[in-house]
Amino acid sequence: MRNFDEHTITQAVIASLSATTNPRIRQISESLVRHLHDFVREIEPTQAEWAQAIEFLTAAGHITDHKRQEFILLSDTLGVSMLVDAINHRLPDGATETTVLGPFYVQNPPEFPNGANISAGTDGEPLLVTGSVRDTHGNGLAGAVIDVWHSDEDGYYDVQHTEAEGPNMRARLRARDDGSFSFWTTMPAAYPIPHDGPVGKMLELQGRHPYRPGHVHFMIGHGGFETLVTHVFVEGDPYLDSDVVFGVKDSLISRFEHLPAGPAPDGTVQERPCRHLNYDFVLAPAKT
Ligand code: BEZ
Ligand code: FE
Repeated sequence: MRNFDEHTITQAVIASLSATTNPRIRQISESLVRHLHDFVREIEPTQAEWAQAIEFLTAAGHITDHKRQEFILLSDTLGVSMLVDAINHRLPDGATETTVLGPFYVQNPPEFPNGANISAGTDGEPLLVTGSVRDTHGNGLAGAVIDVWHSDEDGYYDVQHTEAEGPNMRARLRARDDGSFSFWTTMPAAYPIPHDGPVGKMLELQGRHPYRPGHVHFMIGHGGFETLVTHVFVEGDPYLDSDVVFGVKDSLISRFEHLPAGPAPDGTVQERPCRHLNYDFVLAPAKT
C-alpha cells in the first residue's frame, strides 16, 4: 500500500475498509469516501482553502453546546435535514406532511388543558388555535399527545431569552374524545435562525438571508401511529418562498384569520381583535 496518486487513492482507501464487519458501516464508509474524493477532485481546493474548511468545522464544534447545535444548522441550511426527513416520511395519501424539528423543541413541555392560554403574559396579537387529530380514515384520535411551540412576536423562542423565567409559548395538550383540540396563544413572527456563528458566515458568503417564515411547531403522537413532526406556516409571510432551511410545503401553509372583538369560534368572548388558525392533522399508521 504505497505510491498512491489522485487516480488510485480512492480505491486504496475503499480497499482498506474490507475488514469492516458491519455491512451498513461498510456501505456508509465506502460511499462517504467515494463522494468525498469526487467532491475534492471536482473543486480542486488549494491547501489554504482546505485549511479554511477544517477551520470552519472546528468553529462549528467550538460554538456548539447544550443550547446551540451548529451542525444541525449546517445540515438544515444545506437542505440535508429536509432530505433526510423526506426519505424517512414517504407517507400515505392524506397524511399530514412533515418538516424539520428545529433546535427549539424542549422535551416534556408543561401540560395544559384544552382552551388554556399557553403564552400568558406575553405581548402579541392573541391567537386561537383549533383543530383535530385524525387517522387517514377520518377517525378522531382521542388522547393524541400534542406538543406545540413557537416564537414570540419578535421572533424569539422562550429558550433564547436568557432572563426567561420558565417555559412559555410551548405546551403539551391532549386531543379530546373526538380528536379535537384548542388553545390560545400569541401570533408567532418570522425570525432569523442563529446566524452569529460559522453557518451565518456561510450564508453571508452565499448571499442568503437567515430567515424562516412565521410558523407554529407541532409534534403529535398516538399509539399505533407515526409521530408527526411538522409546522403550520402563516399564509402571506414574505419568507415562504425563501425559507433558509427549505421546510415549507404548500399543504402546511394556513390562513391565520383576522377576527374582530366579540364572540370567538371556541365560544369565548374576546375584548380585542384576534387571529384564528384551524388545522386538521392526519397521522400515518406506524410502520410495521
Ligand atoms: C425552527 O423552526 O425552530 C428552526 C428550524 C431549523 C433551524 C433553526 C430553527
Ligand atoms: Fe421554529
